[in-house]
Amino acid sequence: MNDLIITNIKSLILPKKSEHALKGKEMDELTIIDDAMIVIKDGKMVYRGPKTEGYQASETIDAHDKIVSPALIEPHTHVVHGGSREHEMTLKRQGMDYLSILEKGGGILNTVESTRQASFDELYNKAATNITRMIQHGVLTVESKSGYGLDRDNELKQLKVSRKLEDNFPILMRHTFLGPHAIPKGKDSDVFLDEMIDLLDEAKDYADFADIFTETGVFSVEQSKKYMEAAKDKGFKVKIHADEIDPLGGLELAIDQGAISADHLVAASEAGKQQLAESDTVAVLLPGTTFYLGKNDFADARGMIDNGGAVALATDYNPGSCVTDNLQMIMAIAALKLKMTPNEIWNAVTVNAAHAIDADRGTLEVGDNANLVIWDAPNHEYIPYHYGVNHAYQVFADGKLIFE
Ligand code: NIG
Ligand code: FE
Repeated sequence: MNDLIITNIKSLILPKKSEHALKGKEMDELTIIDDAMIVIKDGKMVYRGPKTEGYQASETIDAHDKIVSPALIEPHTHVVHGGSREHEMTLKRQGMDYLSILEKGGGILNTVESTRQASFDELYNKAATNITRMIQHGVLTVESKSGYGLDRDNELKQLKVSRKLEDNFPILMRHTFLGPHAIPKGKDSDVFLDEMIDLLDEAKDYADFADIFTETGVFSVEQSKKYMEAAKDKGFKVKIHADEIDPLGGLELAIDQGAISADHLVAASEAGKQQLAESDTVAVLLPGTTFYLGKNDFADARGMIDNGGAVALATDYNPGSCVTDNLQMIMAIAALKLKMTPNEIWNAVTVNAAHAIDADRGTLEVGDNANLVIWDAPNHEYIPYHYGVNHAYQVFADGKLIFE
């Protein structure tokens, strides 16, 4: 006897299980089975395919002609932080841009102050609200970065909060040390970078990845290389915030260093985009930041995919450059501004997002954990189309209904 049958599924969306992230044309391939059914036992997939009579279960859920997909994967967030920065909207209206706000001690450094002042519980409770909302929007795998402590105690505090979130919610998380996220006021950047390199050993107890913000006025490509090499020596896989605003060559560095992902890439060079296709690095695009920062030039997703690269999508949820934790909204921006096809978008928030954070998730094959969403939508194109609202109808973690 199985535990659960979900039947009368109008369309079952099945990204391809693969050893590597889907690249180039593969990103436009998605298996869709109409009039489908799913069978689950002990939290795992037993059957997925056309409706059939051959299975029995103690419970049957009628999907009433709604569609089903694997739960979404969010491969880049700064979900653990203190405070908020709504006042920056006024500064931006007055003509100050993101990097000038940071240079004047605001921006990331403002959130560093709020995060240092927040207790463990305050940080936890604030992030728990966002994680709850992510789950309600169909996300069951979340990457979470430190980077608002910029000192030993506060960086580790953020990572420990992130770990506790994973303990208390029915989700899989990946934790990233982002000590070199900004330079504390009055510090020399090389001295500070060395402090963060020294902290890698302790951070290793809590973090899977090491990340750095490579940008004008923050860390140079040379400094980033030094950090990434040190992190790899200590057993980290590396990530990078690269070419978000200025084209410094962060994507090339990421590829050269064998980074698991290179994130942002709005200003990535043509050479970098060409190299992406030959690499195992996943380009994690964050179009919600371009939207929120009020810019018109979005990352060249089309160029990256058409050249044969692998692309994933994330919110980058944070208080300064993208203040939404709704990945469905990012799917809409990807359709409208990155010119990605619906199939590419679904692969980018499932299998490719999983590869960007080394998680064996994002598919619904027999034997996979039954992490899935019933969507109140007539087809898979509808979700990026009808933007700004939540289409998740029921969310199942390991075969258990956790939100409806
Ligand atoms: O990914 N660019 C650097 N870090 C974050 C933003 C952090 C912030 O503004 O608080 C990002 O965009
Ligand atoms: Fe980020």
